[in-house]
Amino acid sequence: MRYTPVTSSLFVKNRADFIAQMKENTIAILTSNDVKHNNADDVMGFAQNNDLFYISGIDQEETFLVLYPDAYKKENKAILFVKETNEHIKIWDGDKLTKEQATVISGIERVEWIQDFEKVVQLMAFEADGFYLGHNEHIKRVTFDQETQQDRMVVWCKKKYPLHEYYRAAKITRALRPIKSEEEIALIQKAADISVVSFKRVLQACKANIKEFELEAELTYNLVKSGATRHAFQPIVASGKNACALHYNTNDDVCNDGEMILLDFGVCYANYNSDTTRCFPVNGVFSPRQKEVYNAVLYCLKEGSKLLKPGVLHADYEQKMAKLVETQLIQLGLLNANEVAQQNPDKPLYKKYFMHGTAHYIGLDVHDIGLYSRPFEAGMVLTCEPGIYIPEEGIGCRLENDYLITEKRTINLTAEMPIEIEEIEAIMANEEFVIST
Ligand code: GLY
Ligand code: MN
Ligand code: MN
Repeated sequence: MRYTPVTSSLFVKNRADFIAQMKENTIAILTSNDVKHNNADDVMGFAQNNDLFYISGIDQEETFLVLYPDAYKKENKAILFVKETNEHIKIWDGDKLTKEQATVISGIERVEWIQDFEKVVQLMAFEADGFYLGHNEHIKRVTFDQETQQDRMVVWCKKKYPLHEYYRAAKITRALRPIKSEEEIALIQKAADISVVSFKRVLQACKANIKEFELEAELTYNLVKSGATRHAFQPIVASGKNACALHYNTNDDVCNDGEMILLDFGVCYANYNSDTTRCFPVNGVFSPRQKEVYNAVLYCLKEGSKLLKPGVLHADYEQKMAKLVETQLIQLGLLNANEVAQQNPDKPLYKKYFMHGTAHYIGLDVHDIGLYSRPFEAGMVLTCEPGIYIPEEGIGCRLENDYLITEKRTINLTAEMPIEIEEIEAIMANEEFVIST
């Protein structure tokens, strides 16, 4: 693997927390994701199932985890099933995890080959009363038309054991994953640190008439060089009015002199993600209007992020952030204060220039799982990302940091990424700043 191995104690603890939530005399089965293939025999890539990774640390396809904490036999309490390698796989793909390596990563003593899964479960199922099965219940899930390994496991298990009770593993991980441990915070910090260097490279490379994808290349270069797994999501490099399309990511336009670029990107390191947005002028100097809009958004970020603290409800935070942005829109001359005072609260006028949420959990998923009805708590990591989009002026501005909530204070994990106008202009002007290759 590219990343420095993660200590198994993280997964041992996560597993213990998961088991503590299971009902008596039940078996939990979690599965890996499928490798996604393209038209022929090449692959689009592999991203591990995040719930399986969270409680096992295994980052390989064709992996099943079976937990049966109340099993009569000690060796049945936790069993990891991994893919058995052979000469063909060795010749074409190289090494797969040995049983010993899987134990070191996960802290699970009993490791079996995946072809023995059905036989082993058969020996345990008659003793158990129910199953916890993994399933993708993400609020933003869009893959309903694609059959996953989890779907196949649900079908298989219910067909084979129709009279057992069934429970949702995702309901347990949804409660656990929002609270990050020290090890997880360190991994998100590592992702954030890589993204800081990436951003400085982009600032240094930027000049009039450069293509958006050339700046994307600077991000990709640095993340691969740093041992990161992949971009956390398709990076957005949007110059001028392109920045007003919230999910623009074709990145195929020219960055024209006088435009401002919106760069929204994240780094995935050891399956943990960062998510940051910065804006900067193509020619290295903000125009007066770009400065006004930028400072309005920066003000909202600085004030709004102060609301990320224990006990605050997400809905209240969003409402206060919307008020902050609304005030700035009036000051920018984009909204009329009298019209705002008389607006229909169900159709606030600010939506014309500001139309998205401004805080999401971040972790194993960029938009990490967790209930938004839950008040903020120490250990949560959330983004803060206000924005103002003015298509008629060719300006879109969003600024995004990642914050760790603690009992005493909220910590900006992305504090090292330049954000003040003077800092950005200085880096873009500094010909001495040398990009290491
Ligand atoms: N780039 C997606 C987000 O900021 O949430
Ligand atoms: Mn975000
Ligand atoms: Mn983002």
